[in-house]
Amino acid sequence: MSELQPAYRQPELADLVEHDRVHRSIYTDPEIFELEMARIWGKTWIYVGHESQVAKPGDYYTTTLASQPVIMTRDHEGQLHVLFNRCAHKGAQLVGDDCGNLKEFRCCYHAWRFAMDGRCVSIPLEEGYADAGLTKDDPAASVRKVPRVGSYKGFVFASLSEEGPDLEAWLGGVASSIDNMVDRAPDGELEVVPGVMRYEHDSNWKFFVENLNDMMHPMIVHQSSSLTARVVAKRELGKDAPLPPALEIISPFTESYAFFDDMGLHAFDNGHGYSGGKNSIHAAYSDVEAYNEAMNQAYGEERVKEIFAVNRHNTVFYPSLTIKGAIQTIRVVKPVAVDKTIIESYTLRLRGAPDELLKRSILYCNLINSSANLVGPDDQEAYFRQQEGLKTQGDDWIPLSRDINSDEELEPGHYYAKGSSDLAFRNQLKAWKQYMLAED
Ligand code: FES
Ligand SMILES: [Fe+2]
Repeated sequence: MSELQPAYRQPELADLVEHDRVHRSIYTDPEIFELEMARIWGKTWIYVGHESQVAKPGDYYTTTLASQPVIMTRDHEGQLHVLFNRCAHKGAQLVGDDCGNLKEFRCCYHAWRFAMDGRCVSIPLEEGYADAGLTKDDPAASVRKVPRVGSYKGFVFASLSEEGPDLEAWLGGVASSIDNMVDRAPDGELEVVPGVMRYEHDSNWKFFVENLNDMMHPMIVHQSSSLTARVVAKRELGKDAPLPPALEIISPFTESYAFFDDMGLHAFDNGHGYSGGKNSIHAAYSDVEAYNEAMNQAYGEERVKEIFAVNRHNTVFYPSLTIKGAIQTIRVVKPVAVDKTIIESYTLRLRGAPDELLKRSILYCNLINSSANLVGPDDQEAYFRQQEGLKTQGDDWIPLSRDINSDEELEPGHYYAKGSSDLAFRNQLKAWKQYMLAED
């Protein structure tokens, strides 16, 4: 082995993240990925879905929680539940489709029946279990519930751990991003519209989550899509022509360093954070008169000004959910392997708003987040190249040191830095280290 390629030595877990740098193995080592699934994804609050996806009694919606199949249900008394998608008999997956409405569940294998809250309702030839003392009322005959479930303004999270902070305490400072998205609905409620854009990344889940508040990349990575669109629009439409909706959405991705610096970064406990605030790439969309009127009627002009003044870009609820309140889209992170991640993108309707708003959100998702979009593949290529590049032994460390001494504590636990800072990376990886080293 040459001097340039010293024998690889894996550092201890506690030494993989330092204040100003991170070891490449946290993105490439399959054993670390398994540990993450147990110590981060198996412990903290993970996003499951939105209550509007199970709006009516008897509704169900299936998804995964830390790779485990689960069912979110609404029982016939209106209560919300998150159950493991496993029959209490011999373990067959109870629900095979994505969503629907039922009186009760019936397992496809031996027809054990379960209420929407998982309670066993009937067992064929139940008397056969008499000697064993098992009846349908025995908790062992019921579908098991995920240990903890919480909902914040319709956003449902669950935890595979019995212990830990309650949902609201865990959300901390980023709960305000959900507040603002809800406030943007004239009726004060959100609704996930049917359909999901799902696409697979050949890269580690952390690259996606870190990139969302990486303000040094858009003007470079998105030259191929955003800058091209700007140049062509200018040439075809004329310099001063108003931008069509698609260009209004795509153009700001190649704003200047100064623009993204000014957007700023906010960081909170548990790895959460957001970019933007006073300004963001979503701030200059054209007004929709009918929407403004509906908002003014619902809240009054002064309050509406306050609501629209909150102009956040991406908010990260570390590790599983990212939202864009100003354009009503969310993305859900589902790690599959150390180098494979599924990202699901959903669009939300602002209840009480004209359809134009929803159309804009769908247009945004199509252009930026869908599997055949213009902007997302730019990022995906960068994540894939990181995944490939970090296999090399050239250097084991990645710096996190940009503007390392410039964080400003706006209030206890709430840090601010200009957009080009590495604050968001440091903050997420600080939480990563805390989770990974926590005692059971
Ligand atoms: S495995 Fe479900 S009833 Fe037997
Ligand atoms: Fe990007």
